[in-house]
Amino acid sequence: HDEEMPSTEIITLTRHILADQMRLGPAATGDMTFLLNAIALTSKFIATNVRRARLINLVGLAGETNVQGEEQKKLDVLSNDIMVNALRASGKTAVLVSEELDEAVIVEGRQKGKYCVVFDPLDGSSNIDAGVNIGTIFGIYRIQDGSEGTIQDVLRPGSEMVAAGYTMYGSSANLVISTGNGVNGYTLDTALGEFILTHPNIQIPARGKIYSFNEGNSMYFHEPTLKYLESIKYPQNGKSPYSARYIGSMVADVHRTLLYGGIFGYPDDKKSKSGKLRLLYEAFPMAYLTEQAGGLATTGRGRILEVVPKTIHERCPVFLGSKDDVADLIKFYEAEA
Ligand code: AHG
Ligand code: MN
Ligand code: MN
Ligand code: MN
Repeated sequence: HDEEMPSTEIITLTRHILADQMRLGPAATGDMTFLLNAIALTSKFIATNVRRARLINLVGLAGETNVQGEEQKKLDVLSNDIMVNALRASGKTAVLVSEELDEAVIVEGRQKGKYCVVFDPLDGSSNIDAGVNIGTIFGIYRIQDGSEGTIQDVLRPGSEMVAAGYTMYGSSANLVISTGNGVNGYTLDTALGEFILTHPNIQIPARGKIYSFNEGNSMYFHEPTLKYLESIKYPQNGKSPYSARYIGSMVADVHRTLLYGGIFGYPDDKKSKSGKLRLLYEAFPMAYLTEQAGGLATTGRGRILEVVPKTIHERCPVFLGSKDDVADLIKFYEAEA
């Protein structure tokens, strides 16, 4: 019989990123590799706490409200503290922006580095207590030439990010990342404590069969969104209608969209003038990954990655996914204009 031997050629995140950075030649200092390793460590730490949450009394509210007026969960606060501490200690960061902190953190002194990290420490808070998939989202900018690291270094379009990614805490912890050269997915091997390359070069299918919107907001939706949804639920051309999947954790909904295709949307509407999702640490990183995987990401009226942020916590309408599906949606917005 021919039982297969386990592979001795495992590719860890560190090894893979190192190879990616070596591609840049002597210009690469290793700082990005080091920073991404620090982020991977925070994901392992958060994953451990997520798994143990029910056992160590980490479920429920922390008792505070964040700048967006949301009640913070204990795991929101813990995950934020884990990330701020590790990113500061990495010595590679200058500016940190977190969903859970009103103001940006400016790293001073010896710990100051040249990267800025914007992050959603724990995405999908409403799903925590039910044990449904949640995640961490991050985007990275390099400080601008001559800058000491100020808030201006992150008030830049998402197209200027040098890397973006997320970790999904699900049946396994999955880290999906792009440094501007395609998208790769890694799965945490808990025995080794390492993220192993399991999804090389993720390419989003050109068209999918799934739509992912919170349709409970339909009474507030604008016409183009409603007409688009109508077109995929009641197709006129003899095709089958799309299936609905909505988890309510952006990380999980986007992860599925990257792998299976289709469209994810959180539109602006009559009640939420700019939608719900935050531009810097939700919309930009996910738009960056989607484009890197061959898909499209739009506000309905323009490319998400070209939006210029005015404030660190501002919101932005989001539609992203398979390029043909998003192109169909855009047609409804063009028809309106
Ligand atoms: P967060 O938990 O980081 O505040 O983000 C929640 C976001 C996002 O994960 C998800 O896509 C969306 O909220 C769900 O919103 P609704 O409950 O309004 O559908
Ligand atoms: Mn929140
Ligand atoms: Mn979020
Ligand atoms: Mn969050």
